[in-house]
Amino acid sequence: MTGRKSFGSDNHAGVHPAVLRAIMDANSGDAVAYGADAWTGQVTADLRETFRADGGAFLALNGSGANVLGLSILLRRHEAVICAESAHINTDECGAPERLLGTKLLAVPTADGKLTPDLIAERLSGRGDEHFAQPGVVAITQSTELGTCYTLAELRKLADFCRASDLRVFLDGARLANAAAYLDCPLADLAECTDVLSFGGTKNGAMGAEALIVMRQGLTADVPYLRKQQTQLTSKMRFVAAQFGALLHDDLWRANAAHANAMARRLADGVAGLAEVEIVYPVQANAVFARLRPRHIAALQREWTLHVWDERESVVRWMAAFDTSPADVDAFVADIRMAADT
Ligand SMILES: Cc1ncc(COP(=O)(O)O)c(C=O)c1O
Repeated sequence: MTGRKSFGSDNHAGVHPAVLRAIMDANSGDAVAYGADAWTGQVTADLRETFRADGGAFLALNGSGANVLGLSILLRRHEAVICAESAHINTDECGAPERLLGTKLLAVPTADGKLTPDLIAERLSGRGDEHFAQPGVVAITQSTELGTCYTLAELRKLADFCRASDLRVFLDGARLANAAAYLDCPLADLAECTDVLSFGGTKNGAMGAEALIVMRQGLTADVPYLRKQQTQLTSKMRFVAAQFGALLHDDLWRANAAHANAMARRLADGVAGLAEVEIVYPVQANAVFARLRPRHIAALQREWTLHVWDERESVVRWMAAFDTSPADVDAFVADIRMAADT
C-alpha cells in the first residue's frame, strides 16, 4: 500500500462509520449466541422482507463461505455447476466448491462475465449420460467479476431457460448492491430470478458480513445444519447482524454502492480518450478494467495500489469503494494521464 487511496479492491476500504457505531451499540450486555439474539431476529426478518424471500435469510461470515453454502443447498451429490470462467467460485476460492462439495465446475468463457441461455445450453450436451458430470446448478454473479451487470430482462431470460431445463440458479451477490444501484431497482427484483443468492455487506462498508437468501421455503430445512457443518455459524452473531442493520437502515447499502459506482464512472470518464488507455469492459458497477502498456502500469504502481488483472493481456482492475472521494479519483486520473504520456 502506498498511503494513498487504494484502487486495488473495494475490500481495501475500511468500515463505514455507521456500521462501526452499530457494532458498538450491539456491544451492551450479554446476548444469546449463535443467532438466537434480537439483532439477528430483526435483521433476518428485514432481509427476508427486502428480498421477498419465502425461504429466509441466514447470516454468514464471508463471501466464499456464502457461495459454498448456497451451492450446497442446491446441488445433488452427483451434480455439476455451470459458471462463467471468470466467476469467483472458479478463480478465487482455492477450489472450495470442488473440495468441500465434491462438485465439478463447468466453466464457460464469456465476453463480459455474463452467462446466456446459449452459453449454458452448450454445456448440457452430456445430460442423461452417466459418464458426464450432470449440470444441476447455474451460478451467476451480479455485478460480475468484470464489473458488468445483467439487466433485469437478461436475468429473466436466463431464469426462464434454467427453469425449463431443470437447472437451479445460484447468484453470487458479493456486489449485489452495486448492481441494484446501477439498475436502479429493488434488491428483490434481482433475487426473484434465483433460487438462492448471497448478499454481500463486506464490500459495501461492513467489517465482515454476508447474507444467504433462500427464495423458496422448500429449500430451507437443511440450511441451519449445512451452515454449521461449513463453519459459517458464528457464535457472536449479533455483531454480524448489527452490521446489516446499519446497511439496511435508510438504505445505506444503496447510497454506498451508488457512490462507489459513481466514482468508477468518474475514473472511466477521466481517462476516456487517452490513446494509451483502453477500457475493456463496460463500466457499470464499481470497477474499471483497462489495458495499458506494462511500463505505464509499473509507473503507476510506484504511487498507487491497483490490481494487475491479466498480466499477459496487460489489463488492470481499478476499483472504487464507498469511501473513495472525487479528489482521490481526480488525483489518480492525473497520474494515469501523466504515466500514459511517458
Ligand atoms: C464476486 C465475488 N464473490 C465472492 C467473494 C467473496 O470473497 P471472500 O470470501 O473473500 O469474502 C468476492 C471477493 O472478492 C467476490 O469478488
